[in-house]
Amino acid sequence: MLLTPVALPHASRLINHGPTVLITTEHQGRRNVMAAAWSMPVEFTPPRIAVVIDKSTFTRELLQASGRFAIGLPPAGLAELTFAVGSESGRDVDKFARHQLVCTPGPVLGLPLVAGCVAWLELRHIPEPHTETAYDTVFGEVVSAQADARVFAQGRWSFRDDNTELHTLHHLGGGNFAVPSRVVRAGSRDKAN
Ligand SMILES: Cc1cc2nc3c(=O)[nH]c(=O)nc-3n(C[C@H](O)[C@H](O)[C@H](O)COP(=O)(O)O)c2cc1C
Repeated sequence: MLLTPVALPHASRLINHGPTVLITTEHQGRRNVMAAAWSMPVEFTPPRIAVVIDKSTFTRELLQASGRFAIGLPPAGLAELTFAVGSESGRDVDKFARHQLVCTPGPVLGLPLVAGCVAWLELRHIPEPHTETAYDTVFGEVVSAQADARVFAQGRWSFRDDNTELHTLHHLGGGNFAVPSRVVRAGSRDKAN
């Protein structure tokens, strides 16, 4: 793995294309991981994102208690794991032990980053009491971003035929995922987004 830091102004590009992500949380010795298909950038500077995390999840409980969370982008090879951690609750099982997850601590917040992912973000929770009571949406500010340089370089994804095993997962429902195997290019590469 060729892990490289991603400049924060480019962090939103990591999830701009709608990948399914793994959300990790940790609070007072308890940690958890779940899958989320619904996330999106909402602000450029500072980089902020929104993620839909059901109020009933253990993830939501740990996130709100700790004020932080991390996101990993699993590639095609982690489809089974992604579906599994999205189909069971950390209230019932230690998913890290069950799936023998290897994690490294995030560089800023020390949150568990799941090995084998192709990009990671650490986020500080932005409390929005009204929104969080009324909806399942949660906001976070990105404080660190890293990616595997074999598939994300110079601030852009590079999905190619020779790195298909590193392509991100996009949930189609029912455990079916698509990967961005074919890229269509338009205009100049110098465009901002
Ligand atoms: C592919 C996939 C995508 C999912 N996307 C979301 C999502 O965007 N938001 C959400 O709240 N739950 C989503 N889920 C369901 C949660 O991952 C699931 O409720 C999980 O068991 C919660 O775990 P926890 O209680 O340990 O936090 C998804 C599940 C799968 C399999």
